Amino acid sequence: MDLSTVIAGVSFRVGLMNASGALCVTQAELEELGESDAGAIVTKSMTPLPREGNPHPRYAAIEGGSINSMGLPNLGYPAYAKLIPELKRFEKPVIASLAGLKPDDFLEGARALHAAEPDLIEVNLSCPNLPGEPQIGYDFEGTERLLSAIREILTIPFGVKLPPYFDPIHHQKIADVLQRVGVAFVTMINSVGNTLVVDPEQEMVVIKPKGGFGGLGGRIIKPVALANVRALWKIWGDRIPIIGTGGIENGTDIFEHVLCGASAVQIGTALVEEGCGVFARLEREVTACLQRKGYMSLMACRGKLREID
Ligand code: DHB
Repeated sequence: MDLSTVIAGVSFRVGLMNASGALCVTQAELEELGESDAGAIVTKSMTPLPREGNPHPRYAAIEGGSINSMGLPNLGYPAYAKLIPELKRFEKPVIASLAGLKPDDFLEGARALHAAEPDLIEVNLSCPNLPGEPQIGYDFEGTERLLSAIREILTIPFGVKLPPYFDPIHHQKIADVLQRVGVAFVTMINSVGNTLVVDPEQEMVVIKPKGGFGGLGGRIIKPVALANVRALWKIWGDRIPIIGTGGIENGTDIFEHVLCGASAVQIGTALVEEGCGVFARLEREVTACLQRKGYMSLMACRGKLREID
């Protein structure tokens, strides 16, 4: 089965990779992704300086998914800039996830990454877990200003990691901004931010930062993810590739994301819960799913979701 894909001119053996944040902070974790069956290596979102992140517990598996408020634990731009050329020995695309605590950070990071030459850069506009910092992706003018400045620095193709939107007007607005800027791809969705999970026995929250509020991931967010992938596919068609993420835990979930319009998918909660073996399992499962449906390749079903007349 041909599970290959192309994003912004970069070829992937399989359109299946980790979501930024999932097992991709340290050199050892990134090398394990390199050795796994993942089709690419995506780094943790990075900031100028190394960060320990928020206090523990900051991730919890819950029924149907996960909640996290990690607080951007990462090694910092210089460390990833040094690591990225070494990760190329795994002969799969390396995607650097660029974040920052303020807009100028992103520009500093863009300069550091420009020299490191990852295959693609995913600009994270949607970290929900920094106390006092809004998600940039919910500020359409701020997003356009920031991406226009980044575009002046980078020649490496860059895309954006978007938060979920819940209104068609917002889908249209972000699509217009991203088209004007000329992003090479979009990854969506980031976790559903600032949700709250309650443990009724303990009468307590389940993670410590921000009074228990955190980003929701896993199976329970799949309909939100599919809606966002589909909404942008309906606006753009195949003009800007979409990497679908959110709620994928089996091969059929991948098929659903691609039917909605995704050109590749990322795995977050399922990777954290299962480890890097998840990629081989998902590859087997999506292959079986496509064979059963009579498709010759993953991309053959892209966008083919049927609506009711
Ligand atoms: C973190 C969480 C995110 O969803 C994100 O996009 C970036 C960082 C975090 O808490 O580390």
